[in-house]
Amino acid sequence: MLCSVSKIGRPLRVDQIRKLYPIKSRHYYHGSSAKSLVMSVNGHSSSSIEHTVKRQKLAQDDPLDDVDLSQNNWRSPGPAAFDFRSDVVTSPTASMLTSIAQTTLLDDVFVEDPTTLSLEKRIAELTGHEAALLVMSGTMGNQVSLRTHLLAPPHSVLCDHRAHILSWEAGGVASLCGALVKGVVPKNEHHITLEDVEANAVLSDDVHACPTKVISLENTLGGTVAPLEECRKISQWAKEHGILMHLDGARLWEACAAGAGGLEEYCACFDSVSLCFSKGLGAPIGSMIIGKSSFIKRARWIRKSIGGGTRQAGVVAAPARVALEETFLGGKLAASHENARRIGKLWEFLGGKLALPVETNMVWFNLGEAGIKVKDFVTAAEKLGLRVLGGRLVVHYQIGGEAIEKLDVLMRELLGGKGVDGINGTVDGDPMQTQVTVE
Ligand SMILES: Cc1ncc(COP(=O)(O)O)c(C=O)c1O
Repeated sequence: MLCSVSKIGRPLRVDQIRKLYPIKSRHYYHGSSAKSLVMSVNGHSSSSIEHTVKRQKLAQDDPLDDVDLSQNNWRSPGPAAFDFRSDVVTSPTASMLTSIAQTTLLDDVFVEDPTTLSLEKRIAELTGHEAALLVMSGTMGNQVSLRTHLLAPPHSVLCDHRAHILSWEAGGVASLCGALVKGVVPKNEHHITLEDVEANAVLSDDVHACPTKVISLENTLGGTVAPLEECRKISQWAKEHGILMHLDGARLWEACAAGAGGLEEYCACFDSVSLCFSKGLGAPIGSMIIGKSSFIKRARWIRKSIGGGTRQAGVVAAPARVALEETFLGGKLAASHENARRIGKLWEFLGGKLALPVETNMVWFNLGEAGIKVKDFVTAAEKLGLRVLGGRLVVHYQIGGEAIEKLDVLMRELLGGKGVDGINGTVDGDPMQTQVTVE
């Protein structure tokens, strides 16, 4: 497999690296020894590497002795191929490993690392914003963005009641910004509209009020898409009222891959956007926030204050770059959406109901309506070698054909006898009769 990160450096295949630097033990790939591999591909002689490894061996004989490595070693398909719990489980690929081996290793707190700076520039260009900043996670992206925008209480953030920033970020907006977060239930039960915003934003300067300073949208949310036109309307209204717009775009890639709008078009509606490389795109770590240069300057400061300044950030930026180029721009997401749609259709075909429509890579089985307990669903899936959390299934791009076949069996087992005749999939209209699409 060729690495397509031309801006990072000359592509080297994993087998070429192995040939150049023969791997005598798994130490090269793990823990502190990973640094040895990275050093080796950046000009250090193999004898100095062997010396380093020998020293490490003397100091600590097999530091991974207690680790089960059977699920490891960058094999493909990896464990993610059968894991529907989330797209955060996607495994880094061999070309990501190659890019880590090739990356530059300068200090990003000193703003010196070429690989990191190159990725930030690339993302700023792709999104049409002035600047970008690498952060370690989606949570850090949202929290740094909001803390950068919000200067002093009293202030509040308006978002969907299901938003990640409200329910899944450890109350960070309260502790870091001292802000009230107001969760709004969208009237259409799908996405926040301008009507919802107008009805819930606080514009008053009365001493009793806590004025809305930021509207934070999420796209996709539960795999569903916020329409571009609605984002534009809310953005225009926010501008007129001096309110800033943030987007939790951890999965904005999916909305774009579904054809809902371009990256630049969506990002134009927001003062800041957080994008994740480590979910559907498959990178091991990393997110990026974008905005005006003045926003990014202050965000760099805030990032430092919460311990998010990193030193040799190239090891994060390089595989993130591969994730961007190969998974998103390489067009790998569309096939996973198609698979999600077919899974959703089969569930309905068998008499099940969906809790949310399938618009990107998520399928929401309404287990309660089908009389299926979550724990029974998890156990039945486990028996077939599949991992699920509950009714939400994330059909990321590493889910393979074999997993979809097993899921087909599971759905028929669970919903057998409900809704249709010919449960063995021989009736007309069975969505699984068409070819499974797998990358
Ligand atoms: C929509 C959304 N935003 C932000 C995050 C946070 O990302 P991280 O787990 O990298 O902190 C997640 C995590 O799954 C998410 O689903």
